[in-house]
Amino acid sequence: MAIRDADLHGDPRTLTATLARQGLWISPKHRPQLVEYFNNLDVEDRVTFVPRTGWHNIGNRRVFVLPDEAFGAAELVLLNTDTASPYGYKGNLADWQNGIGRLTAGQRLGVLAVSTAFAGPLLHLSGQDGGGIHFRGSSSTGKTSVARAAASVWGPRSYMRSWRSTANGLEGAAVLATDTLLVLDELGVIESRELNAAVYQLAIGSGKGRARRDGSMRVPPTWRVPVVSTGEVSIASKIEEDSKRKAKAGQEVRILDIPADAGRGYGAFDSPRAGEDSAAGLADEMVRSAEERYGTAGPAFLQAIIDRGIDKTIDDINTSIETFCANSVKFGTDGQIRRAARRLALIAAAGELAHEFGIVPHWSQGEATQAAEFALQQWISSRGGGEAAEVISALRAVKLFIEKYGDSRFESADYPEGKILNRAGWRKGKGDDQLWLFLPEVFKTEVCAGLDSTLVAKVLHDRGVLIRPENERGYQMNQWIAGLNRSHRTYTVTARIFASHDDKVLEVLEVLECARFTGTSENAPESGNTSNINVLPTIPTIPTESASKTTSEPDPDGWSFNTEDGDDLDLSDPAHPLHRAQQ
Ligand SMILES: Nc1ncnc2c1ncn2[C@@H]1O[C@H](COP(=O)(O)OP(=O)(O)OP(=O)(O)O)[C@@H](O)[C@H]1O
Ligand SMILES: [Mg+2]
Repeated sequence: MAIRDADLHGDPRTLTATLARQGLWISPKHRPQLVEYFNNLDVEDRVTFVPRTGWHNIGNRRVFVLPDEAFGAAELVLLNTDTASPYGYKGNLADWQNGIGRLTAGQRLGVLAVSTAFAGPLLHLSGQDGGGIHFRGSSSTGKTSVARAAASVWGPRSYMRSWRSTANGLEGAAVLATDTLLVLDELGVIESRELNAAVYQLAIGSGKGRARRDGSMRVPPTWRVPVVSTGEVSIASKIEEDSKRKAKAGQEVRILDIPADAGRGYGAFDSPRAGEDSAAGLADEMVRSAEERYGTAGPAFLQAIIDRGIDKTIDDINTSIETFCANSVKFGTDGQIRRAARRLALIAAAGELAHEFGIVPHWSQGEATQAAEFALQQWISSRGGGEAAEVISALRAVKLFIEKYGDSRFESADYPEGKILNRAGWRKGKGDDQLWLFLPEVFKTEVCAGLDSTLVAKVLHDRGVLIRPENERGYQMNQWIAGLNRSHRTYTVTARIFASHDDKVLEVLEVLECARFTGTSENAPESGNTSNINVLPTIPTIPTESASKTTSEPDPDGWSFNTEDGDDLDLSDPAHPLHRAQQ
């Protein structure tokens, strides 16, 4: 075992308790002498502790750390965490290739999931944040089976966690999945509130700052976590189950909601096994295979990156990403689509690289790219089209309100009618010339619940759906109401609302998967406003190295995170106190 230098400057009981747990008997009265003894030892061996998995800069080298191995390291590097390692392997690489590698070939969502598992180590190299994909679809379509295939790249069955256990122990899971993969099954089991907090934490890549024993605040742990998730509903709609909470556009482009339907009548699969008319057998074989042969492909991928050279790998993936993004312009140029395309481009690049490295020989060249393109198409159509999520939300909110209430809450403005309960406004004209005149308060509080009403009005106006007098700046206008015998300020919506959008929007009424954009969500880093339609919420920055260096003393409790600069733990200085170790 290794003893950290910092442990020799704190309470001797912490050190002796650790040694006692390892079986060393120490008389309590000799504790100070033991510490003194260790302090006077001159040790030449250097051990570098790191607080999380993934890429680190150690001694001017870029090193990838897993619990049992450090790729590219010139010295001993140990992962320092209390959380049990989820990694492990069984069988050799050829076994995995003949298992999951072969079973996923020709299955676009299978290839996508496994490519996402390879994309973890490339996130940092390509400068992307954590995030990933969520397979959404009805029961027994193969979501969990495909997620198990992804998990098998890095570890055993237990590598896949449930969303529930992760909300409770997110920090531990995240620091151990940094730059590899977090596989989260069954979104349904988590409470909406917990999910909101978990997704937010995953997105910002940082844990909670906690007080140390001396009352000062500890720098929170940081991570960069790639995710493969499954569930019957989308992450956004689960967050929105609690009507006061709205998912954010930033959340939606981080974990992309992909329908778990390859569109060929076999659920998440493109085809069943030869001679079978259902994909059930394939799903079961995938799970069995992931159970029997796992954990070898991820490390092989890392070794191949080191062997090729990190800089060369970076150049290759950047070229691949640019090509994918250039080709995906045909799907739309909205900012959110571009971000989703970039995320899928990295997944494609990872899958192609794994194929080039010979790790997935059963896949054909270009297969991962096709899988990612398919996912992008699916993502775009499931969110309702190629427009910004906010535009879709705005159009949908108004359209649904009219469809839902129709005449029951809109009185005729042309002639007085009997009293209408809970009036939302008036209706005027007929057919293509029909207008809906919304009472401003109803428009703001009911129609636009959870949305920024000014932004909704702007979106409607920009699309010619909301009319207002030419010379006015606001979005309301005076309309003559016969029953009142006077004019009333209203938001005036034309019948174009029904021509303005694909009917697919209505199909997703129950599943409000499109992002909302106001600052109503708690924990929101920043409120939306009318000028930032395509701008995503600002993500709080991870403490910088210079900021954390203000605590120059190694901290016995949280020392391991105190030199973290958010991207790399730079321990290149040999005189750094963290290098001193006693063996
Ligand atoms: N595409 C499919 N077609 C037919 N049967 C399938 C398909 N995918 C899975 N199954 C069957 O459903 C069982 C469960 O598969 P899996 O756990 O992957 O489904 P799931 O989509 O995650 O379902 P749930 O939403 O209930 O978790 C499998 O054992 C298999 O028998
Ligand atoms: Mg499942």
